[in-house]
Parts: sequence; structure tokens; C-alpha cells
Amino acid sequence: MKNILIVGSTGQIGSELSIRLRSIYGDNNVICGYYKPPYPDNFFDLGPTVEIDATNIDQIADAVKKYKIDTIYNLAAILSATAEKNPKLGWSVGMDSLMNCLDVARELNCAVFTPSSIGAFGNNTPKDKTPQDTIQRPNTVYGITKVVGELLSDYYYSRWGVDTRSVRFPGIISNLTHPGGGTTDYAVEIFYNAVQGEKFTCPVKAGTYMDMMYMPDALDAAIQIMEADPSKLVHRNSFNIASMSFDPEMIYAEIKKHYPQFVMDYDVDPLKQAIADSWPNSLDDTCAREEWGWSPKYDLAKMTIDMIQVLKERYLQQTLTLQK
Ligand code: SER
Repeated sequence: MKNILIVGSTGQIGSELSIRLRSIYGDNNVICGYYKPPYPDNFFDLGPTVEIDATNIDQIADAVKKYKIDTIYNLAAILSATAEKNPKLGWSVGMDSLMNCLDVARELNCAVFTPSSIGAFGNNTPKDKTPQDTIQRPNTVYGITKVVGELLSDYYYSRWGVDTRSVRFPGIISNLTHPGGGTTDYAVEIFYNAVQGEKFTCPVKAGTYMDMMYMPDALDAAIQIMEADPSKLVHRNSFNIASMSFDPEMIYAEIKKHYPQFVMDYDVDPLKQAIADSWPNSLDDTCAREEWGWSPKYDLAKMTIDMIQVLKERYLQQTLTLQK
């Protein structure tokens, strides 16, 4: 039985990973570290929580000792576009949280998962079917923290045997907690507008391809990699994973199958466009498939159906509640 600490449990990934981990390992075995509001509904009622500033190593160490933690999910990060507006903050949140988790894990014998990203690649990386091992020279501070994170995590493993593992997440499409400040956020926001009958203005150009993934697959990846048989892992930090690659026109066309009146136009954000242009169009995830059985369940069509259904039900519930 694992005892898990999630650092950054109220963010886009953490808010859903905590629910999934608790359903697998038990409510009391998953400790949700939180930093600042807003907290999800019932956050404090669903299982143990602990206030943690990821840049404060003592708070992480105290939680690990108190709850006898053996696995840390370190999700604290500032996403790409926001980090470009405040690079020092992007650097310190990304790096301090990582170093703190690695040092605590080394001392107290924990495994550590810290996500990497498609942002760990840059302009001179091969764009299509980007290989697992290739050039990584990102030109965003977010990407730089991810590359350093991969290297440091491998260093802690090879030097001190800390059980570090990771995946390179694509843009994650989710419907519980907004991502906030990422370059791929448009692929989440477009659904909220479509379901509410509003026009959507896309901040990246037609023809801008990026890898994306529906949250249930992203959660599977984060859990499966930590459950994988270590003797099968040739790589550790960090695995390419992929499930779908599309540009704005493709997701627009897919949503229009359900909402024929839906309208999308463009107002390109130069910062987000430059970041998107520097990232791969699609990743080759062969190593993840071979070393730990990665196999996503959602493509663009299946994800679109589910996103629309979940959001429609939520808005219907809200309308019913307001009418009461
Ligand atoms: N979703 C992230 C971003 O856009 C990429 O990992 O910043």
C-alpha cells in the first residue's frame, strides 16, 4: 500500500489526480498538499490535507515524516506563458519545489514523480514524431526548468538511487480545474465557449500543431509510470507520451460536428504563438509503450464527445440550481 503526498494538489492535474489516487490507494493514504485558494469543493472533507509551500523544504519534510510518505507527486509549477511574464517566479517555483522534493526523498526514502512537458523541446528539435532522446534546447523558462528537472531527477537516481520517474505531458485537456497560463490552454477554453453557445477567439494560428491529451489518459500515465516494473525501465526522466496531435482548425471542426452553429475566429497572441512554434508537432512515444505499456484511450473524437457531455451536464446542473 502506497502513502502518497501530492505537492500542488489543487491545480489542473492535482485536483483530478488526487481523486483518482484516492480511489486506488484509499482516501487516507493520499495526502493533498495545498498552497493557496481556491480549493475544490469539499477539498477538506475528502481526505487528509496539509498546507505546503513547495519552496519550503521543512514543510515538505514534516508532511513526509508525519504521514510516513513513500511517494511524492510534485506538481508545483507555473505554466509556460505565465512564466514568460515572470521568469524568476517560473524558475523558483519549478526548481525549488523539485530540489526540495528530491532532497526530502533522498533523506526519507521516497519515490518522486515530477512531470516534464512538450515544453522541454525547442526550435531545433525534430518537429514530427519527436524522438525520445533528441536535442532539448527550449527557449522558455518553463522549458528550461523541465529540462533541468529531467536531468536532476536522473542524477538523483543514478547517484543516490532515488526512485525518480516522469513523463513529458502534452497539453492536457480537462474539465474540473482550469490550467491557467499555458500555451495549450486554448484547447480547454474552446469547449467552455462551445457548450455555452459563445464564439471562441483562438490565440494561436491555424496550422499550429501540438500534442494534446485528455485528462483521464494523463492520470493513467502518471500512475502507471510509478507502478511500472523498475527492471523494465531503460529511461526514467522523462518519457514521451502521446495520444493526439491537432491544430485549431481540427478541434474546431470536431466541435462543430456537435454544435454546427459554433464560430471560432483568431486573434493571435504573439507570445503564445512563439512558444507553440518552438514546440514539437507530435511526439514518438514508442519507449513508453515498450518499457511500461503506455496505451492511451482517447483520440480527438472520443475526447470531444466526453468533454461536451461533462460540461453540458455541469451547466445544466448549475442552471437547475439557480432556478431553485
Ligand atoms: N500545458 C503546458 C503549457 O502550455 C505545456 O506542458 O504551458
